[in-house]
Amino acid sequence: MVRRVASAIIAAAGSGERFGACTPKAFIQLGNRTLLEHAVAALASVVDEIIVTAPTGYESQARALLGDGAIVVTGGATRSESVRAGLAAVNENSEFVLVHDAARALASSELASKVLSVLMNEGQVAVIPVIAQRDTVKYINSDGYVSSTPTRENLVRVQTPQGFSTSVLRAAHAQSGEATDDAALVERLGEKVRIIDGEERALKITTPSDLARAMQFLGTPSSFKTGVGVDAHAFAQGQPLHLAGLHWPDEVGVDAHSDGDVAAHAICDALFAASGLGDLGTNFGVESPEYFGASGVKLLQETLNLISAQGFAIANVTVQIIGNKPKFTDRRREAITALSNALGGAQVSLSATTTDGMGLTGEGKGIAAIASALIYKV
Ligand code: CTP
Ligand code: MG
Repeated sequence: MVRRVASAIIAAAGSGERFGACTPKAFIQLGNRTLLEHAVAALASVVDEIIVTAPTGYESQARALLGDGAIVVTGGATRSESVRAGLAAVNENSEFVLVHDAARALASSELASKVLSVLMNEGQVAVIPVIAQRDTVKYINSDGYVSSTPTRENLVRVQTPQGFSTSVLRAAHAQSGEATDDAALVERLGEKVRIIDGEERALKITTPSDLARAMQFLGTPSSFKTGVGVDAHAFAQGQPLHLAGLHWPDEVGVDAHSDGDVAAHAICDALFAASGLGDLGTNFGVESPEYFGASGVKLLQETLNLISAQGFAIANVTVQIIGNKPKFTDRRREAITALSNALGGAQVSLSATTTDGMGLTGEGKGIAAIASALIYKV
């Protein structure tokens, strides 16, 4: 029997504006992995190849997360353009293609299999999962009045993965049309789109409250653990200052084996303490020369990988920087973004304080940070 090749395109190039995180939505953590990793994991057993469209500038971050599990291409300015970029990378022998949103991270492998099997075995060219529309829906005018009310029984909410004959999807996208789903482009060709039952867990994560709802499908978090971490370094003239994931060009740096980012190091230690995985020294110390000179951001990423491998997810981390300089007021938001990005979009808060002229930091000899972390098993 001739093998029939099936591909998947995961649209993950959106910025997640409505979500409002400092990282593109696909890189937000849901439990112990990102939305993108969930989506790829669900499709991996169902198709022969997965193409991921990443936001411009985030291609290598996506490749680092997914390894050999997917081909990463640069997405476009709209979802339809991103899907077209993905389609261009689909194997030329591909007969079927699933198009999926990273934002529907928890759609199950069973749903993807069902879509593919209806395509393969029932001779359909387009198959989409749908769920009943519970609310009444109305057409409205821009003048603030209702114009009409469609019959609710004929309305459904549409999900992904949507499945297509690859040639039909290529034809649909050849028109360069725009739509919020791919089936709409196929409908414009006059092709029939088959519906199957969708699933609640394939909800689209648009806002933080959707993320909270999605968490419920992962089960109740258990085994909460807290940890604290502290780090301090003495100032050293002529050294660059790296602090809280940022470079501070006009400030005196510190003497350190690494880049001396006390905030990042304190957070790593807090995470290690919470997970019981040792500390910064046992994980990245002199025994591990590959981390010599590593940036604080790199160490945060590695720490996240290590605790994730143990099944832990981050609830939040807090870091307080103790020192007379630098002043954080203007760069606090930027620092939180840098730390949060390094931790897979985890919730980070940052404060800074001085010590009334006392001690190492008060006398202006150096800088310190103290961090706490709350993590849990999913
Ligand atoms: N998407 C994409 N390329 C774009 C825009 C969106 O690949 N230019 C993807 C998103 O990454 C997401 C899916 O399409 O997985 C559905 O889009 P949506 O939920 O709207 O995500 P965002 O566009 O990221 O969110 P927002 O509209 O709030 O910015
Ligand atoms: Mg969008």
